[in-house]
Amino acid sequence: MATFQGDLPDLTQPDLAQTKPPKGNGLASVYIETYGCQMNVYDSQAINGLLEDAGFDIVQHDLEADVILLNTCSVRDLAEHKIFSRVGDLRHRRTKTELPQPVIGVCGCMAERMGKDLRKGQRRVDLVVGVDNYDTLPDLLGKLTAKTISPHAHDERTVTGHRSDAHYVAPPSLYPVNNSHLVTIHKGCDYKCTYCIVPYTRGPQSEKSPEAIVAEIAGIVAGGGTEVTLLGQNVTAYNWQQDMDFAKLIEEVAEIDGLERIRFLTGHPTDMHPHLMDTIGRLDKVCPWLHVPVQSGSDRVLRRMKRLYNSTGYLEMVEYAHKVIPDVTFSTDFIVGFPGETEADFQDTLEMARKVKYDQAFCFKYSERPGVPAAKLDDDVPDEEKKRRLAELLAVQEETWNAAATACVGQVWTGVVEGPARHQDQRDKGPSWRLRTANNRKIIVHGGDFEVGAEFTARINGYKNTSFLGEIQD
Ligand code: 5AD
Ligand code: SF4
Repeated sequence: MATFQGDLPDLTQPDLAQTKPPKGNGLASVYIETYGCQMNVYDSQAINGLLEDAGFDIVQHDLEADVILLNTCSVRDLAEHKIFSRVGDLRHRRTKTELPQPVIGVCGCMAERMGKDLRKGQRRVDLVVGVDNYDTLPDLLGKLTAKTISPHAHDERTVTGHRSDAHYVAPPSLYPVNNSHLVTIHKGCDYKCTYCIVPYTRGPQSEKSPEAIVAEIAGIVAGGGTEVTLLGQNVTAYNWQQDMDFAKLIEEVAEIDGLERIRFLTGHPTDMHPHLMDTIGRLDKVCPWLHVPVQSGSDRVLRRMKRLYNSTGYLEMVEYAHKVIPDVTFSTDFIVGFPGETEADFQDTLEMARKVKYDQAFCFKYSERPGVPAAKLDDDVPDEEKKRRLAELLAVQEETWNAAATACVGQVWTGVVEGPARHQDQRDKGPSWRLRTANNRKIIVHGGDFEVGAEFTARINGYKNTSFLGEIQD
């Protein structure tokens, strides 16, 4: 399995030395690549589990695989373009290496959005399976690798459509991701923000039952896990049979003995009621980190986006959170260049970034998605202008962050070891490790031989980008 949220890996140099060729004997080996959000990461683990249970072999390299599944994202146009070029590259690699062509399948949001259209044209794929139909994969792949489905059987090779009963459970034995086990608590979205494709690709909001969630987490803890990240498009809108809201759910999850930390992604600002924030602040196990995408700082744009809050309400929410959740930090998403966004609207967005002082801001240029309400509006901010606004927003975010991060130097924080740091750039001081604080800050420390999951205190000596540089305290 591989996960890509940024750049694609370099496929120009096939690394045959590290691979064994696909078996090509009908006992399919499957390679899964994941794009997009954490929900897709979780879904890929679920697919992995379903296929392993059915006797398929999950491999870590595309050249070893009889079947390649791309678990895709539709949220922006660029994400979809990347998949088309990826399909071409994957096929080209096989031609170059003279290995048999793999079965290539598209899962996830693109499968749901485009369906049979993915079976047309030069970059066509062999099968298309949408977000609620992964349980059909073992049977389908069995037939495809045994070549009992005709290449022209478009219907059989395309399984999409929403099913409220489909709530996949990823076997916890297969991960954690960064020391935290992902647990999807609901799927879909009922908000219908005007720019967003998710309500169409993921369908209406549908809850996993509290019993199933608690059982899944109890299983994770029984296997030695101590941290979970509750996942959903809008976890704060969780509402099981009008009887259990998100605040009640986290109370229940916090009761699980042996579980130490609970994170959650993503929150909707309009659901961040004082009662929920009180609960987050009161429960020691719930981490004081809120990812609450603001999207824009302009009330006019927020209204046109149908975000259901205004800038004052958002800032009041932030203020209240600071009051009741000790050490709370915020992260967000921003969209620049939404149809009709003026320079004055954009200045309101910059102002929002300056006021809230986000730890992290994921900033995007507006990308028109087919069929969403905003597609009826004129996409009238020229791309050059979107680029300029994006660069300016990133610069303001960096400046704000640098000031906040500088003020942290000298403090002593507690963090949990997630794993080796990505860049081992200070080898003379021993291996580098990445710790994560409860409020989601990364600390890079050097030396020692740390166990993943162990807790340490570290003195903060500086920072590099969004990571702090620290020294373990005895
Ligand atoms: N264009 C640009 N960004 C978008 N997002 C969602 N839809 C679009 C779009 N059409 C962003 C939002 C959301 C994040 C996951 O992706 O900021 O919070
Ligand atoms: Fe998309 Fe809005 Fe739903 Fe988030 S809340 S998934 S941005 S429609």
